[in-house]
Amino acid sequence: MTEALDHHGDQEVGDGLVDLAVNVRTGTPPAWLRDEIAASLGGLAAYPRQDEAVTAVAAKHGRPTGEVLLTAGAAEAFVLLARALRPRRAVVVHPQFTEPEAALLTAGHRVERVLLRPEDGFRLDPARVPDDADLVVVGNPTNPTSVLHPGLDRLVRPGRVLVVDEAFMDAVPGEPHSLAGRAGVRGLVVVRSLTKTWGLAGLRIGYLLAMSDLVEQLGAAQPPWPVSAPALAAVVACCSDRAAKESAEAAVETGRQRAYLLRKLSALAGVTTYGEPRAPFVLIRTPDGNQVRKALRTKGFAVRRGDTFPGLGPDWLRIAVRPEPVMDTFADALMEVLD
Ligand SMILES: Cc1ncc(COP(=O)(O)O)c(C=O)c1O
Repeated sequence: MTEALDHHGDQEVGDGLVDLAVNVRTGTPPAWLRDEIAASLGGLAAYPRQDEAVTAVAAKHGRPTGEVLLTAGAAEAFVLLARALRPRRAVVVHPQFTEPEAALLTAGHRVERVLLRPEDGFRLDPARVPDDADLVVVGNPTNPTSVLHPGLDRLVRPGRVLVVDEAFMDAVPGEPHSLAGRAGVRGLVVVRSLTKTWGLAGLRIGYLLAMSDLVEQLGAAQPPWPVSAPALAAVVACCSDRAAKESAEAAVETGRQRAYLLRKLSALAGVTTYGEPRAPFVLIRTPDGNQVRKALRTKGFAVRRGDTFPGLGPDWLRIAVRPEPVMDTFADALMEVLD
């Protein structure tokens, strides 16, 4: 396979394989969160009301409620942006999650790419984004490179919409370089998701943060009642102090596990990493990556192929960070395959 914007890690799991292809936190959703969602089921006869969930998100990020738009996952936010905006020059910074570009193409827009380079550690030099780009999409931290970009607010320009996909930001301890709390910045759109940290891919819940006129414009493109009552209950629960504590601890733990994985990988000849990974996954380069990936499957491990991401090729693989014992057996399997 080569580049394919509609390919996702969940297409690579199954068959009893250990899942290192999907970046959802293991052991999620936690029981307390499942209980909160289940408790909402008694109210399913009523149409969902968003007030409490919007207030909770606004308070979490220190923003006015008018700057919050709840969506059916981050993916809906990308579709709304693509349908509601009329960019003359849309630029997507790659390699990154492919749905923003797919949504733009589906809505009939032309898309230019800024391709980040491994030799630069996949870091973004803002000067590489054309000055007259009036829509720019960048992930932070970026999937699949795992790179966290500082200072993305330097990309804000009059007349430009800057979309920062922060779907994995809550997995970075302390969320340095998050722009989610930046109220009142014209054109800045921050997209967040409950999918990854909370294991809620199947519920479809996320949100975007932007100035209220843009929130209104994007909200007008949504169908009535776009977010279900159980999803709203999940938002309220995930904005609680308890959730903040749990996700902060999980982020630190993930950082420890990632450091462990990186140490294991650095001991393997023929495996290279680039830049400083900060997300719950690591991107590696290894000659004949696709053969390595297939051989790993025979040893019981599913890793995410890299060749479907713009700017990468068959030598790239993405590995989800998991607890140390899993990383141990994985590193052993990888060593055997490379031998
Ligand atoms: C970087 C990134 N953004 C957004 C999404 C989509 O998230 P959601 O499930 O909230 O639509 C994904 C899912 O893989 C992702 O990797």
